[in-house]
Amino acid sequence: MAQKIFTDRPVAEVIEAIQQERSVRKLLVVCDTFCQTLDVAQELKKAEIEQVWFDDFIPNPLIESVNEGVRILTAEACDAIIAIGGGSGMDVAKCIKLYAGCDPEKPLVEQTPVPNEIPLIALPTTAGTGSEATRYAVAYYQGNKQSITSLSIIPEYVIFRSDVLQGLPLYQKKCTVMDALCHAIESFWSVGSTEESKVYSRDAIRMICASLDDYLAGDTQAAANMLHAANIAGKAINITQTTAGHAMCYKVTSLYKIPHGHAAALCVRVLWPYMLAHKENCVDQRGAAYLEQTFQELAEAFGFAKPEEAAAAFDQLVDRLGLERPVLNSEEELKTLSGSVNPTRLKNNPVALPEEVLYDLYRMIVRS
Ligand SMILES: [Fe+2]
Repeated sequence: MAQKIFTDRPVAEVIEAIQQERSVRKLLVVCDTFCQTLDVAQELKKAEIEQVWFDDFIPNPLIESVNEGVRILTAEACDAIIAIGGGSGMDVAKCIKLYAGCDPEKPLVEQTPVPNEIPLIALPTTAGTGSEATRYAVAYYQGNKQSITSLSIIPEYVIFRSDVLQGLPLYQKKCTVMDALCHAIESFWSVGSTEESKVYSRDAIRMICASLDDYLAGDTQAAANMLHAANIAGKAINITQTTAGHAMCYKVTSLYKIPHGHAAALCVRVLWPYMLAHKENCVDQRGAAYLEQTFQELAEAFGFAKPEEAAAAFDQLVDRLGLERPVLNSEEELKTLSGSVNPTRLKNNPVALPEEVLYDLYRMIVRS
């Protein structure tokens, strides 16, 4: 299913277009209290369509919130779902879409989702996660992370509004854009890469590099470009998933309270040169020569002739953006970090990373 994208159009106009296409009568709007203050949310409130707003969820959302969302969707007879937000709102909306039709009075994770045709619309409020382009969602149940994957939760419609990004703090812009860039990089070298995913990654890298400075300076066109670049990088990881950079960054985020994109950038920065120096430990079935070619193509996507030059440029970019390394409090933390990495996610990485290597890499990610 091709995703329909509307860029910089009035929200009411887009909803009207979707209504005509899919005869939608009532919207369930998934939007947290902060995003409700945005102009786009106000525009939606004024649109001529019945709507029920749902904001009873937290960052790192709980499955219980999804139950509540499904309950409201059913009770109010909503026939479309729109998410306005970053990662959490998008995750909740995707899960509501997945479990619509299930019994909200029982644990949803124990039920088999019923396929449905409910249109899912996404209006991302950051340019980074690419969540509006992926089949992934995350929610927590009884303290455990539930990674949900289903093609049915890829939003059918996306509304990009570059003005939404203008209000973001500079640091948040940097973190989210680096998240998108890491998606594109990791997807490019993933063992699951395909010709198609590499085209998405390459396009995303070029767009991000070309628009980064203007975007951070507040340029509107660059902001629109960034929304598209993050979406394309999302399409890349939708095919390949992420690799060691992301597998390693989650604990950095939880231990040092560093935003996801910041942590991902710190991890990719040390991972990239390590992999270039250890291509002999290639685990990609296509072989070491293929991996070498991949690193070469990746460098060219960044505009460099040699892989080492691209990795060095990325390193400098992290410094230039002021994304600092967290301070190590004890040697024990290195053990916690290296023991935390999800081995399933590591399998997507093209170079083997045993725990002692992760330990050394984390030592470079933090500072003493
Ligand atoms: Fe990410």
